[in-house]
Amino acid sequence: LHVVHIAAEMAPVAKVGGLGDVVSGLSKALQRKGHLVEIVLPKYDCLQDDHISDLKILDVAMESYFDGQLFRNKIWVGIVEGLPVYFIEPHHPSNFFWRGKVYGEHDDFKRFSFFCRAALELLYQAGKKPDIIHCHDWQTAFVAPLYWDIYANKGFNSARICFTCHNFEYQGTTHVSELSSCGLDIVRLNRPDRMQDNFAHDRINPLKGGIVFSNIVTTVSPTYAQEARTAEGGWGLHGTLNIHSKKFVGILNGIDTDSWNPSTDTFLPAQYSADDLHGKEENKDALRLHLGLSSAQAFKPLVGCITRLVPQKGVHLIRHAIYQTLELGGQFVLLGFSPVAHIQREFEGLANHFKDHPDVRLLLKYDDALSHIIYAASDMFIIPSTFEPCGLTQMIAMRYGSVPIVRRTGGLNDSVFDVDDDSIPQQYKNGFSFWSPNELELNNAMERAFNYYSRTPGNWKKLVKKIMTLDFSWETSAAQYEELYVKAVAKARAATS
Ligand code: GLC
Repeated sequence: LHVVHIAAEMAPVAKVGGLGDVVSGLSKALQRKGHLVEIVLPKYDCLQDDHISDLKILDVAMESYFDGQLFRNKIWVGIVEGLPVYFIEPHHPSNFFWRGKVYGEHDDFKRFSFFCRAALELLYQAGKKPDIIHCHDWQTAFVAPLYWDIYANKGFNSARICFTCHNFEYQGTTHVSELSSCGLDIVRLNRPDRMQDNFAHDRINPLKGGIVFSNIVTTVSPTYAQEARTAEGGWGLHGTLNIHSKKFVGILNGIDTDSWNPSTDTFLPAQYSADDLHGKEENKDALRLHLGLSSAQAFKPLVGCITRLVPQKGVHLIRHAIYQTLELGGQFVLLGFSPVAHIQREFEGLANHFKDHPDVRLLLKYDDALSHIIYAASDMFIIPSTFEPCGLTQMIAMRYGSVPIVRRTGGLNDSVFDVDDDSIPQQYKNGFSFWSPNELELNNAMERAFNYYSRTPGNWKKLVKKIMTLDFSWETSAAQYEELYVKAVAKARAATS
């Protein structure tokens, strides 16, 4: 198959969150299966270009439509992680992608609707005939209505559209008048069964457009797919998802098992594997030394937490977990920052409060190298999310032998199975979990983990070795996407023959 991803993020060149990891992880796995995979991204000024090789400008004059005019785009092509990537650099007075960041601009709707139109125009003008165009989140959801409403009529119709939603909270709604900028027809699309927002009839909803107009709609775990179809979890789109339920499935993400591998990880002071855990202890000592944490009682379990501090991640429970860890006699290390000013301030206050504490360190920043060491050094890893479409950190933690303590929601519910749950077959048990996002339930899960750790160290060690060998690679998930693609393509061929 020929698959083209159109996305706002791709790790490591343009990564904000897990979406970036998915675009590169899934693409690499599909390429290993023998498919032709290409990616189209905006040419942000903040691209990490040391990860791009053979970058060059293509000698084509590509113009795309916006706001009633044609704008010239410069097209770059390069190789990222072995994959061909096209970068679109618009010559538009608003300098859409020269903002020093990927998202969070007042005109994000314009920026990304421009990009979607230009991306399709590029594929069309280059004469490409992909079997699948795969788009992600609201920023590239416009691709679906643009494709079927404009490009298919020009004879560019070989592809089926697959749309993956990584988080239903972010929908990109805007005033209906903005829809026409990228050439979409307001009258045809501002309808309750198309792109009209389910709450406000003068607003249109790109995410809804992605759901309605794509041939395949996926989200990033089976449990989240169910949650999104309820009033509590669908952020107003549950009705739309229920109408389109036949084409909607949840596929659990994988992780990049090459870059997340404790036996080859060059960020670690000591590498280790399930067969020999000595290095894990060394990493713990090294982290303690580095952060000035006490090593007087070296047997104390170290609880790690690496996250963006946003309400979705259960910030109130993260704060509580710090105190609960101390109560239970452990050490706590947090790495993360908040894009929300008042949360960042609150945690800065806490960090300051604990700055000389022998057992707590709160590091309010993004630090890739340090994150590897924390995964390796920690014994337990806490993820108390209020909701979590997939979550990648629980899988990375397990690969590094850090036992996850999670709230049962979304992908956490599909990847972490409680040691004390008798309904779960022994071979699947791999962590500790709780249902309701409240302090009592979190306390209970943490107590059970600490007891297991201190009372049955032999079993704990077995658990650590077991979770390190679980398979969270992309191969399984990529096979599921492949199956969906193949079915959609076959259906299309059957319809035209
Ligand atoms: C979003 C979700 C997260 C998921 C990631 C990748 O960031 O919040 O749960 O793991 O996308 O799909």
